[in-house]
Amino acid sequence: MTDEELLEKLKALEVWSGHREMSLEDVATIQPGLGRIMPEVGARTWKLYYAAKAENWPLATFQAKEIKGLMELGAFTRPKHEEALNQFMAENWKPVQDAIAAKDFAAFETTFHKAVDAANAYHELKDKPYIVWKLPDAPPPDLDLRPRKKS
Ligand code: HEM
Repeated sequence: MTDEELLEKLKALEVWSGHREMSLEDVATIQPGLGRIMPEVGARTWKLYYAAKAENWPLATFQAKEIKGLMELGAFTRPKHEEALNQFMAENWKPVQDAIAAKDFAAFETTFHKAVDAANAYHELKDKPYIVWKLPDAPPPDLDLRPRKKS
């Protein structure tokens, strides 16, 4: 079998999802873009801020890392945004993660607000000036943010 023939066979291949048959192309098409990833980034950014404020550094570390992973996923599924997302992570997110690693809330607060301003500038750059993320006034109600004592 030639490589071309193999490729044709793979393209025609259908797999059962548990609900319907899907081709490899279908599976690729339904991977999340920024429209699905960004609302989760926003929710985790909210949790991140109030976790840091409560000095729950393990939770803040976790949320910042999850956001990094989501940004990497977005850069992969939407290569047209890869450069901007990578630049944001290197220039704006790394300082936030460094402040968390240093358990320094003052540095966190400065770098966090700078990162939010930068994120909103990227929204404008990406022709979405109407998307302006803002930090909610109250902590997220679905997580106990208090630091856990080591048992
Ligand atoms: C921590 C940083 C960021 C936060 C908190 C954030 C937050 C959000 C939120 C909440 C939305 C969805 C609004 C909605 O539909 O309800 C959104 C959309 C979007 N964001 Fe971000 N964002 C961040 C960084 C970035 C960066 C660095 C870029 C650069 C590419 C970016 C590009 C976009 C785009 C293109 C959309 C529109 C997606 C679509 O619906 O097609 N964001 N953002």
